[in-house]
Amino acid sequence: MSKSSRSDCKESDSEPLPIYHHKSKLVRAVKDSAFLVVTGETGCGKTTQLPQYLYEAGFCKNGKIGITQPRRVAAITVAQRVAHEMRLTLGKEVGYQVRFDDCTTEETEVKYMTDGCLLREVLADPALSHYSVIVLDEVHERSLNTDILLGLLKKVFSNPDKASEGRRRTFPVKCSFGSAVGPKDTESSGYVKEVVRVALDVHTSEMAGDILIFLTGQNEIERACDILYEKAETIDYRFDVHDQTVEGLLILPLYGSMPTDQQRQIFQPSSRGIRKCVVATNIAATSLTITGIKYIIDSGFVKQLNHNSRIGLDILEVVPISKSEAQQRAGRAGRTSAGKCFRIYNNDFWEKCMPEYTVPEIQRTSLTGVVLTLKCLGVHDVIRFPYLDSPEERFILEALKQLYQFDAIDRRGKVTKLGELMVEFPLHPGLTRAVLKAASYRCPDLMLPVAAMLSVENIFIRPGHSQKQKEADERHRALASKSGGMNDFATLLSIFHFCKSSEKPAAWCKENWIHWRALKSAFSVETQLGEILYRLQQRSDFPFESFDGNEKNKLRLCLCAGYFTNVARRSIGKAFCTMDGHGSMVHIHPSSALFENEKDFDWVMFNDVLVTSKVYIRTVCPIRYEWVKDLLPKLHEVDVYELSNVAREEVTEEEMAKWENKEAAKRRQEASAEEAM
Ligand code: CDP
Ligand code: MG
Repeated sequence: MSKSSRSDCKESDSEPLPIYHHKSKLVRAVKDSAFLVVTGETGCGKTTQLPQYLYEAGFCKNGKIGITQPRRVAAITVAQRVAHEMRLTLGKEVGYQVRFDDCTTEETEVKYMTDGCLLREVLADPALSHYSVIVLDEVHERSLNTDILLGLLKKVFSNPDKASEGRRRTFPVKCSFGSAVGPKDTESSGYVKEVVRVALDVHTSEMAGDILIFLTGQNEIERACDILYEKAETIDYRFDVHDQTVEGLLILPLYGSMPTDQQRQIFQPSSRGIRKCVVATNIAATSLTITGIKYIIDSGFVKQLNHNSRIGLDILEVVPISKSEAQQRAGRAGRTSAGKCFRIYNNDFWEKCMPEYTVPEIQRTSLTGVVLTLKCLGVHDVIRFPYLDSPEERFILEALKQLYQFDAIDRRGKVTKLGELMVEFPLHPGLTRAVLKAASYRCPDLMLPVAAMLSVENIFIRPGHSQKQKEADERHRALASKSGGMNDFATLLSIFHFCKSSEKPAAWCKENWIHWRALKSAFSVETQLGEILYRLQQRSDFPFESFDGNEKNKLRLCLCAGYFTNVARRSIGKAFCTMDGHGSMVHIHPSSALFENEKDFDWVMFNDVLVTSKVYIRTVCPIRYEWVKDLLPKLHEVDVYELSNVAREEVTEEEMAKWENKEAAKRRQEASAEEAM
């Protein structure tokens, strides 16, 4: 892009953003109050302008300005934008930090970061002494970490003052319902095709103006873009296009793990005669404002991490959005002129499947990580912590139970040495436990790449085209058998090494249908995890131990230390039954190397669960019962109601002894039952 068109995209050049009129009032309000709530229409300039006003007003003289975002893409793109507007270098005065990507220096004064990063900083420095102001952005999104940060700040401050800036005039958006998706349709293949069809329809029959499509994730978005590329090429503009000023279609994907240079393109205005079509996740609903959007195509779905108490696991699932979310999506079309919103679902779907509001994350995801963080911050009573909306008590108890199972807390609810090590890792506690196990055996290189590969987006490319899909599947199968087959974790490990040692890694990835970009992030994540681990291993009390098992099984033994909660035993036919007390029936996912050889083993361990028509387990390996035999009882050892007493207050010695006696009796009973079998 040329220089001139770049500065064109800065709205404030032509007409100041709505927030500008409240500049001095806002700066004064921040100076005068300890705690301030600022509200204003999406796109009015809160995220990008307010920190600049504070910077100008000298707030950086005695500390940094920290701004949190629930989403990493938002943190990165906004920091880029602000550095550009302030004519400063990104990474110097203005920087960002997201998980596994720190673009700040000592000099950084305006720091955008994810809420998770700030929570980590609170752990290291509860007073946040390096900051003069903290801006918690997108609080209404109710992300788990932002909620916790608010709770922590609420303990320090009270009585917020409210500053509201004038509402920006918005234009009417005409919404229409489709017929493609009804209450029974949840298969993504259906709605992906439908949004593409509607997009092409809009492109050929509607006046100029950019399109924004809402889908749920990277795979879908890439599939939609592929079909769009293909179809857009075949449009005969002489006959089809209603508005002769629009000829080309510029297709732009937008999702969380996208490379940053591509993200920047989204915000550049399209050239004359070209219609921009952004295919995005929910991130474009509030966190990022794209100018020029006139048409919205809403799939009606979103990808959400939900705790499924039926199977006792967190599941990333595609669910219908709420009605308020649908209205927010539609509103994105009316920012600069009247717009249209095409909902591809019907009225029945709206009435029967879409809830009124989105449930805050804290009330629907596993709290294991957060409870450990709180405990490490010295919050003992995690039940009566001032949550914005309290999660259900049983979720907190379940988190306590898991932490106890992982030996991160003891029976009194106190953080153990291991728990102190675990909290340092920005990973799921089970995965952290496996990494620490490998480190204690002095073979961290076995687990670090696996943990890294599990932390990045899916590395396997699944092309939309069926012929190509076959080819990709064959390549993936070959990679699995090269690593010995029958262990998806080992496949990840060997792909990591194959690619790393390849002379032309990008070409190697292309040939094998592997996401090169995902692997590049895995390399970087691995290095960073290694750095954390190195730091921890310097502690004199790092729990090293000797390994006396079979070297061949070492990786799986390390995995067992963390994933014993994800163990399943063969049940009837192709089904497996989980061992965590829920006893749910699960099936091996077709993407697993074990899928076709299911008959050969009785015990498996898995990384995650996917619910479609069946409950599938993904990234799987066979294990032996002996490996988890001593760990499995831990899954049933604690009674959550006992733990709730522990959570509430310090337990007396007497109570503890009573409890331990009861537990011992229970175990004796179990042992004799087992012998009898
Ligand atoms: O936070 P809020 O929703 O109030 O607005 P903002 O994110 O600060 O955005 C203010 C304006 O800057 C919007 O009109 C965006 O379109 C624009 N913007 C942009 O052009 N490029 C970015 N990377 C971020 C914002
Ligand atoms: Mg904002």
